[in-house]
Amino acid sequence: MAKAKTIYFCRNCGHQSGKWIGKCPACGEWNTFDEEVISKPTAKDAGIVNKIKAVPVAVQDITSDKEERIDTKSIELNRVLGGGLVAGSVVLFGGEPGIGKSTLLLQVALNIKGKRILYISGEESHQQIKMRADRIGIHNSECYLLNETFTDNIFNHANELSPDIVVIDSIQTIYSDLIDSSPGSISQIRETASQLQRYAKSTNIPVLLIGHITKDGQLAGPKVLEHMVDTVLQFEGDRHYGFRILRSVKNRFGSTSELGIYEMQSNGLREVTNPSEILLSQRDEIASGVAIAAMVEGQRPLLIETQALIGTAAYGTPQRSSTGFDLRRLNMMLAVLEKRSGFKLSTKDVFLNIAGGLKVDDPAIDIAVAAAIISSLEDVAIQPNICFAGEIGLSGEIRAVSHVENRISEAAKLGFEKIVLSKYSLKSINLKSFNIEIIPVSKVMDIVDILL
Ligand code: TYD
Ligand code: MG
Repeated sequence: MAKAKTIYFCRNCGHQSGKWIGKCPACGEWNTFDEEVISKPTAKDAGIVNKIKAVPVAVQDITSDKEERIDTKSIELNRVLGGGLVAGSVVLFGGEPGIGKSTLLLQVALNIKGKRILYISGEESHQQIKMRADRIGIHNSECYLLNETFTDNIFNHANELSPDIVVIDSIQTIYSDLIDSSPGSISQIRETASQLQRYAKSTNIPVLLIGHITKDGQLAGPKVLEHMVDTVLQFEGDRHYGFRILRSVKNRFGSTSELGIYEMQSNGLREVTNPSEILLSQRDEIASGVAIAAMVEGQRPLLIETQALIGTAAYGTPQRSSTGFDLRRLNMMLAVLEKRSGFKLSTKDVFLNIAGGLKVDDPAIDIAVAAAIISSLEDVAIQPNICFAGEIGLSGEIRAVSHVENRISEAAKLGFEKIVLSKYSLKSINLKSFNIEIIPVSKVMDIVDILL
């Protein structure tokens, strides 16, 4: 019989300790230790996967063909994975509840024709999954559903069915009887994930795992998992908007700067292969406070609308509110604008919004934000044929940004006639090769001059 033992785990990083401690020595977080009862497995208890034996092989005997990749039939997902799903790999899809992880993977499962797929759900009944499949509206007779949470049963079924791909929804619901603590606890997640990892490696069948994370990254699961899996993809977006971004956070078989864009519709997720056109579509009339930024997400250029509204503060303390853009950075930019170009912003309410519910952290969006603020403050509309890319520094200087050529050609492709860039960005590029007027700027006052 297994011997029960109590261990404390850090919720944040998974560090373990024999006794409770206030501050985690590994990640430095306070108050993150939870008690979990685990039992040491005896040889007899060991689960099915543990019986799979590996044998040593000489390096020269291993044939190094190009690694086998399965086409997921999704351009966006293939790109984020680095060219398709690698056989025997474990891919974790992390994201907040309700963002669309189950939808994404069910859709992928239904879309891959000619491969047998086992979709294991510990969260929803067959009925619920069927309803979702009907909504997505793709028919696939080779996609099997299984309601199961116990790992030994999962491996038994998988061995019987011998699927080409296994999907687990979600890692927080499955458990192994080698561990006493409840499903979703750190020791369970570790154990089940390592069993799945061994299963994938020994059978060469890729496993797609879903993992929940909450807003502040609490409920550690996926954090602990990140070390154990081959690829970590994060599915994010604002639940109230349709756009979703699938970002690669870790990838043993590809680059981490790739990203896929989807739109949630009533019949599942639609791939957005041409994001700029959608993000800019609702622009018929020109209003003040709107500026277009030529930003880059991952490797992809993307033109996006920034909107600002400046009003006189009705109550003593002015309000600052920002959606999709870091509030501290907004406050910094307001201070820079006030100090370097003399606008009185400290007594104003400032609201900033990035269209489409996207969260952006490309610093190149700075000058578009500044332009939107100035435009709203002075109530002059910015011409719709102009876009911006540049970072603002504390002294009001406009800094160079990366991927300048990508930004310029995307803007030109979408029919913009002018692009405002830091003059320091222009040193190494051939301006003649672009069919767009480039306006170099070096300080915030230059933007004011362009607008007013
Ligand atoms: P879901 O995939 O269940 O999210 P997760 O697995 O990440 O928790 O779906 C999330 C939301 O997507 C849900 O509120 C309903 C919505 N949705 C659509 O808008 N269209 C669709 O076709 C489907 C299947 C879901
Ligand atoms: Mg789900």
